[in-house]
Amino acid sequence: MRAPVSQRSLQFTESVIREMTRLCQEHNGVNLAQGFPDFPAPEALKLAAAAAVRNDVNQYAITWGAKGLRDAIVAKTRRFTGLDYAAEAEVTVCCGTTECMAATLLALVDPGDEVIIFEPFYENYGPDAILCGASPRFVRLREPDWSYDPAELEAAFTNRTRAIVINTPNNPTGKVFTREELEHVAALCRKWDVIAITDEIYEHILYDGATHVAMATLEGMRERTVTLSGASKTFSVTGWRVGWCLAPARLSGAIRKVHDFLTVGAPAPLQEAVTVALEMTDAYYHTLAERYRERRDFLVPMLEAAGFRAFRPRGAYYVMTDISGFGYSDDVAFARYLVRDIGVAAVPGSSFYSSPEAGRQRLRFHFARRHETLQAAAERLGRLASRAPTA
Ligand SMILES: Cc1ncc(COP(=O)(O)O)c(C=O)c1O
Repeated sequence: MRAPVSQRSLQFTESVIREMTRLCQEHNGVNLAQGFPDFPAPEALKLAAAAAVRNDVNQYAITWGAKGLRDAIVAKTRRFTGLDYAAEAEVTVCCGTTECMAATLLALVDPGDEVIIFEPFYENYGPDAILCGASPRFVRLREPDWSYDPAELEAAFTNRTRAIVINTPNNPTGKVFTREELEHVAALCRKWDVIAITDEIYEHILYDGATHVAMATLEGMRERTVTLSGASKTFSVTGWRVGWCLAPARLSGAIRKVHDFLTVGAPAPLQEAVTVALEMTDAYYHTLAERYRERRDFLVPMLEAAGFRAFRPRGAYYVMTDISGFGYSDDVAFARYLVRDIGVAAVPGSSFYSSPEAGRQRLRFHFARRHETLQAAAERLGRLASRAPTA
């Protein structure tokens, strides 16, 4: 009998993060699994959102984004990268960077095309590639600095390669790709006529003097790069679902068509509020990064004291850890133990690899949390060192 669901949907499983969140609620744990802030969004944004609703901005915005928001995205992009985009033809506002990625891949990639993805990768990229029928080719980022082997990357490019996905600053590793690495990727994109799809959603969350290099600023790359970003992480509004794609008109036209039929548009009043957000001064961005640095500098030593080997992130708000000191052969079993017996939820490393075996000794924590929440996690993890594993 024919399966009641598509073959496509059978090729990926539900996110394990959800299981961790459910277990966390059951055990009244501290959730350091799913990466969203537990602190408020800036007051100015909340006021702007409320004002937009009160002012009856309640109907569909223009499908590719309200004009005011697209203008603000263009101005902000110019301010931080020096690049100029045309609001009318090169900017598409979507329901979060998540939809940007899905719409971009559906618009630019045909079934059978290859898409290169660095791994460990942000969970969504695997299913995104499957949904558009692409064959993902994975290139490994290796601890401790999460660099890649240039020969391995070069070997991944073929005549069938349509696109490469780069996420910098990176989830889950906290890696910030260097200019040299991005120049190497760019040279390969030019050589093989490949599109770079760069997820730059953590572009403003950087530590220790690390700088964010936007792929589109590199020689010959503006014409072959789709840059994705959004409001979720920079303005602590992951539930608002406002993201954007910047791409040359010939690519944006296709992305806009797919976006229109996927979702029509992002929430209209929240587009108004994000327009206000994009006018924040440099001090806002500086404080954002500084607060995250403080949280990182609290979490990393705390994890080390509890027995993890922590890979110190240079950007984004995650810490990937090595759990081999705990004597578990399975990351999922260890994550279940951690949430049930210790009361802290984290994400099993295998979720971030094409071959789960590669992540069996890894666990990812996030630190987009208030200090009290991280303190509560510290107290619980303090019990870990003294306990014998039960699995
Ligand atoms: C690398 C990366 N891209 C995209 C997203 C989702 O972004 P959005 O909320 O804009 O859909 C996340 C969320 O965790 C992420 O880590």
